[in-house]
Amino acid sequence: MTSASSPRAETTGAHTTGGHIPVLLAEMLAALAPRDGGIYLDATFGGGGYAEAILSACRCTLFAIDRDPDAIARGAALTARFPGRLHLIQGRFGDMLDLLAAHGVGALDGVVLDLGVSSFQLDQPARGFSFRADGPLDMRMDQDTDPAQPTAADLVNHLPERDLADVLFELGEERAARRIARAIVAARAEAPILTTGRLAQVIRAVLPPDRSGIDPATRSFQGLRMRVNDEIGEIERALAAAARLLAPGGRLVVVAFHSLEDRPVKRFMAEAAGVAGAPSRHDPRGLLAQTAPAFRLLTRKAVRPGAAELAANPRARSARLRALERLAPAPGSAGTDGFDGFAATPMRGPT
Ligand SMILES: C[S@@+](CC[C@H](N)C(=O)[O-])C[C@H]1O[C@@H](n2cnc3c(N)ncnc32)[C@H](O)[C@@H]1O
Repeated sequence: MTSASSPRAETTGAHTTGGHIPVLLAEMLAALAPRDGGIYLDATFGGGGYAEAILSACRCTLFAIDRDPDAIARGAALTARFPGRLHLIQGRFGDMLDLLAAHGVGALDGVVLDLGVSSFQLDQPARGFSFRADGPLDMRMDQDTDPAQPTAADLVNHLPERDLADVLFELGEERAARRIARAIVAARAEAPILTTGRLAQVIRAVLPPDRSGIDPATRSFQGLRMRVNDEIGEIERALAAAARLLAPGGRLVVVAFHSLEDRPVKRFMAEAAGVAGAPSRHDPRGLLAQTAPAFRLLTRKAVRPGAAELAANPRARSARLRALERLAPAPGSAGTDGFDGFAATPMRGPT
């Protein structure tokens, strides 16, 4: 695989051509700084573009997770190109501690997260992510491995109107959430909404296209997708786990595509690096603030794509990268982070 998925056409309104362009690839590599002998995790394998770049940059070992079995299956060719160096794991990145422990790995030199969905997923109508092509209203990233997980159709047809509006507002940042939820409830009373096409039609009847060129269904589809896959919960679990896995000098690099994804990343990194603003003296966390931070921020501001990348790949325009590095424990420290109760000494390394 020589390129990676560029996943966000639908959230930016751009057209997906089937091209797979890794986003902020050079910036990701610079922030991760992989080195010979290191052990890394690509927690969002996708099309394998980041994985290929990391494996080509040095003689390291790479574990790669994706919750989508199709992504893991596509990775077989890359595994063969880098014998013994790429280990693919199907599962959720929120479970990375257990997934890696099953492979005898308890410490890492770096973790990369490239959030969202891949264009492989968006481009297959059968996966139900797309409002451009009609398909079953599914949206589960791991549809084959978790048949019990509710689909987007389950939410759209069964959530109370108020809860549906909350999903669209909070996870889709859709200002017309209430009107759209009302229209969905009226439409489902006539017949269940089972396809992406019908849902998009119901939304477009409420919100006619505006001059931005962004499809009116974009934000609602994003909200449903994020709820179906518990994307914010996954991000929060992954950040905590990654911080715990990083060895001294190890780096966490996260690429987000919209503010809802970026917000928990920004907050987590600022808190980990002790730059989140001092808590009040009445707040018991003030005690923790007195211990030296276990991490340092590598990106004071989010790194954005440069003009050349934007010209070559306009879909990258909302990408932002943040990175964090675990510091060596201070001499004589008691061995605790002072951050969220994580152990300062990473667990054992690969066996
Ligand atoms: C934007 S793509 C990654 C693209 C990749 N960096 C590349 O270069 O090809 C995001 C991938 O993350 C996967 N993903 C999203 N949430 C996940 C989760 N909670 N656990 C594991 N994989 C997840 C998706 O299935 C998708 O394949």
